[in-house]
Amino acid sequence: MNHSYIAAIDGFGDAVALGLRSAPCPQPRHGEIVVQVEAAAINPIDVRRRGGYGSRLFSLMGAARMPLVLGNDFVGTVYAVGRGVTGLREGDAVFGAKPPSSAGTHATHVTMRAEHARLRPSSIPAATLATLPYNFLTVTRAFADAGICRETVNGRPVLVHGATGGLGQIAVWLLHRLGASVTAVGGRKGLDACLAAGAAELVDRHRQSLASLPRHFAATLNFASWDDEADLLQRLAPDAAGHATTVHPLLGNFDRLGLLGGGVATLVGKRGKRGQIPKGARYGWTTFRPNPSALQALADCAAALAPPTVKTFTLSQAGQAYLHVEQGQPRRAVLLPGQL
Ligand SMILES: NC(=O)c1ccc[n+]([C@@H]2O[C@H](COP(=O)([O-])OP(=O)(O)OC[C@H]3O[C@@H](n4cnc5c(N)ncnc54)[C@H](OP(=O)(O)O)[C@@H]3O)[C@@H](O)[C@H]2O)c1
Repeated sequence: MNHSYIAAIDGFGDAVALGLRSAPCPQPRHGEIVVQVEAAAINPIDVRRRGGYGSRLFSLMGAARMPLVLGNDFVGTVYAVGRGVTGLREGDAVFGAKPPSSAGTHATHVTMRAEHARLRPSSIPAATLATLPYNFLTVTRAFADAGICRETVNGRPVLVHGATGGLGQIAVWLLHRLGASVTAVGGRKGLDACLAAGAAELVDRHRQSLASLPRHFAATLNFASWDDEADLLQRLAPDAAGHATTVHPLLGNFDRLGLLGGGVATLVGKRGKRGQIPKGARYGWTTFRPNPSALQALADCAAALAPPTVKTFTLSQAGQAYLHVEQGQPRRAVLLPGQL
C-alpha cells in the first residue's frame, strides 16, 4: 500500500470536523518503525486538543502542526522498519503509545520511535488493548511523582480520586497489588468495578465529601478535578509518601498566559500547593510520557487487568467517536483504522 489514511483537523475548535483523507504512506527514519494501525483509542485529551487545549506548549514540540492527527495509543502490525532498529521486524504484532505529535495514531499508518512499541500480548482483543497504554503509562508516572512503590504503600491506606475512570481503574488495581488499602472515590455507578479491582473502601463522591475523610493516607492521587486538590492534600498523613495530580492547570496556564506568564504561574501554583503537604512528601503534576520499561510491565500484566468495555468506530466515523468521548458516554471509544 503506497497510501495511508488519516483522520485529521485543519484548525482548532470544539466542532471542527475530523476529515478522512489519504496521505502518502510514512517512511521510517533511523530508529523508527511504521505501524499499520488495527486499533487506536480516543482519550479525553484528544477531544481537548482538537479544541486547541495545550496548543502553546504542544506547538513547541511540533505537536500542533496542521493537518493535525491526534491519538497516542495504538495496536497494530509493524509495516516498515528503519535503519538501526533492533528487536522488531516487519509483521510483528505490537502495541504502545507514542508521545504527543502532529502525526498521531488516528490513522491507518503511523511512524514512531521503535522504543514506543512492544510485542503485544496476544490474549487480549486489539480494541481492548488499545485503551490501556496511555492510561497505564500515565498512572505509573503518577505513582513515581507521588513516591508510590511497595515500600511506601504496602499495608497503608491510599486514596484515589476519580477511581471510576480510565486512570483510576488501573491505579486501584496496581495499588491493590502493591499491598495498599485503597479508598476509591467516584460516582456511584462505577464503584462496583473499583471493588472488583481491589478497593477496600468506596466513597460515592455525590454523597460524601472529601473533607469528611480521615487525614491518614500514605498517598493521594487526583484523577478527577483540580477544584478538589486542596482537600486531597489535607488527607495526607504526616509521614505520607506524596500526592500526584493529572488534572493540573499546566497546559491551560501556557494557553492563557503565554510561555513566560504560563511558566511563572505554573511555578507559583506548584509552590503554593507544595506548601500545603507534609514535610518530606512528594508533590507532582503528572504528564503522560512514554516509558519503555513501564510499557513492558503493561505487556506482562495486561491480561490480568479487568478489560474496559469498548465501542468501536471506523476511521470515517472519527467525528462520532470524538462526540462519544466528549459526551462522557459509557464504554471507551476505539477507532479501527483498518475499516475506513
Ligand atoms: N496530565 C496528563 O498527562 C493526563 C494524562 C491522562 C489523563 N489526564 C486527565 O486525567 C483525568 C482522568 O482521566 P481519565 O481518562 O481517567 O478520565 P475519565 O475516564 O473520564 O474519568 C474521570 C474521573 O473523574 C471523575 N470526575 C469527573 N468530573 C468530576 C468532578 N467535577 N468532580 C469529581 N470527580 C469528577 C469521574 O467520576 P464519575 O464519572 O464516576 O462520576 C471519573 O472517576 C482527565 O481529566 C484526563 O484529561 C491527564
